[in-house]
Order: sequence, then structure tokens, then C-alpha cells
Amino acid sequence: MSANQTFNLNIPREKLPRHVAIIMDGNGRWAEHRNLPRFAGHRAGVETVRSIVQMSGELGIEALTLFAFSSENWRRPKKEVGLLMDLFLSALEREVKKLHETGVRLRIIGDVSAFPKKLQQRIQDSMDKTRDNKGLTLNIAANYGGKWDIAQAARKLAEQVAAGTLNPQDIDESRLAEHLSLSELPEPDLFIRTGGEQRISNFLIWQLAYTELYFTHILWPDFSREEYAKAIQSFASRQRRFGQTGAQILELEQRGHA
Ligand code: IPE
Ligand code: IPE
Ligand code: MG
Repeated sequence: MSANQTFNLNIPREKLPRHVAIIMDGNGRWAEHRNLPRFAGHRAGVETVRSIVQMSGELGIEALTLFAFSSENWRRPKKEVGLLMDLFLSALEREVKKLHETGVRLRIIGDVSAFPKKLQQRIQDSMDKTRDNKGLTLNIAANYGGKWDIAQAARKLAEQVAAGTLNPQDIDESRLAEHLSLSELPEPDLFIRTGGEQRISNFLIWQLAYTELYFTHILWPDFSREEYAKAIQSFASRQRRFGQTGAQILELEQRGHA
């Protein structure tokens, strides 16, 4: 039985999101509700990552981008930050072989230069190993910030101007976007945030400009395949207008089906 049948996800392919971006929030509260240390929530969250990655692959989604550690998360207690680094390293060590076998192309986005050397090496090895895979592209945002992303793209353009290879007149949206993380992928169609907060928290601020937003109170370790299916159903029921009128979109759709 396919995942589609399991959830009655009778959604035509053109209504499925090509790219899903998720803020995996609520691990700490999940643990606190159980009188467990926050770290237990992060560990449980890794299990959710595994099932959501798998379901994304089954549905034929092209890209999944997960926010694992923000540029602001360094402000957490030192012990929690250290445990998160350890968890990231052990998850890479454990999961990459299986991801590779299932054709997943793994990418880490963010300023990884701030991570311990061993973790940086493991990140590089994982990306190299899975580089040519043709299945789901899985992007893990680690020490990522949307403002950092735009600033690093601007710096690259400035370097080209300084080198005399770029004319400032030629800088436009698409030229800047070429240097952002994920530039080779379609922009996210669907954004999901678990854990009840309704904010972007410096995630992909440029790339989310026209993304459909979905917020749920479910805490990340409880975010099941059923909950993921609900988010995708919600997405499929929306009309994306990109500035046009509803009537124009209907007409385009009818012509497409003719
Ligand atoms: C998200 O869960 C995971 C990370 C930010 C690493 P939180 O740790 O933010 O969980 P809450 O929001 O405290 O419940
Ligand atoms: C956002 O979650 C970052 C990740 C999920 C990795 P936070 O829990 O850190 O966000 P804020 O600070 O509450 O907005
Ligand atoms: Mg949080």
C-alpha cells in the first residue's frame, strides 16, 4: 500500500508541493511535559525527522528543507548547544548510509565554519557521498540565518564588482538569488512550523516570499505522518495567485486541462 492510499492523499501530482520547508519546533516542551531533560525531546525529534524524510520520498517531493539549528540558537545554555552538536554528529554517522541507499541527496546549508572540526568533516563527507543521488534533496539548515544568507550573497556580488567582473547596474533580484542557499532548487511551496509559534525566526526569509504558510500546535516529536498529510492537504486546497486574480488563475487552470 502506498503512502498515498494510507492517508487517502488523493492529490494530483501538480497539486503536491515540490519543496517543503519545516521549522521543527517544540522538542524542549515535549520533554518538559514528560518531566524529561530537554535533550530527550531533541532525541525524539530525530525519529520524527526520519519518518518525515521517508514520507517525503514516498510522495515524490523533490526537496525538503529542515531547520535544525539557527544562528540564534548559540544563545542557549552551553550544555544544550553541546548536546545538540553531539546529536547532529551522531545522527549523521548513523543515518547517512541509509539515506544514500535510498537515493537522498543531503545538503547542509548555513555557516558551518563555526562548528567543531570533526562535525565539519562529517558534513563534507556526507554531502560528497550523496552528491550525485537523484532522489529527494534533503537540506539541513544548521547555523543558518536568513539574514546571514542574504548578507553572504551580497558579499559575493560586491567581490565581483570589486574585481571588475560585474557592473552594479546588472544587479537585480535574480542575480542576487543566484548566490543564496538553495538557489538551484524551486523556492519552497509549503512552509510548516510545529510547536505553536507563528513566526519565521530568521529562517529562509528571502526564499519564503511567496510560500504557503502552515502552523500547527503539534510539537515536533509528535508530528506524525498523518499530521504531515494534513499540512499537504491544506496546501493542495489553496489557490496560489502570485498577484493575479482568482478568475485569471481559474482560466489558466481550465486551459491547462483542455
Ligand atoms: C526546536 O525545539 C529544536 C531546536 C531549536 C534545536 P526547541 O528546543 O526550540 O523546543 P521548544 O520550543 O523549547 O519547545
Ligand atoms: C527555530 O526555533 C529554530 C529551529 C527550529 C532550529 P526556536 O525555538 O529557536 O525559535 P524561537 O527563538 O522560539 O523563535
Ligand atoms: Mg523552540
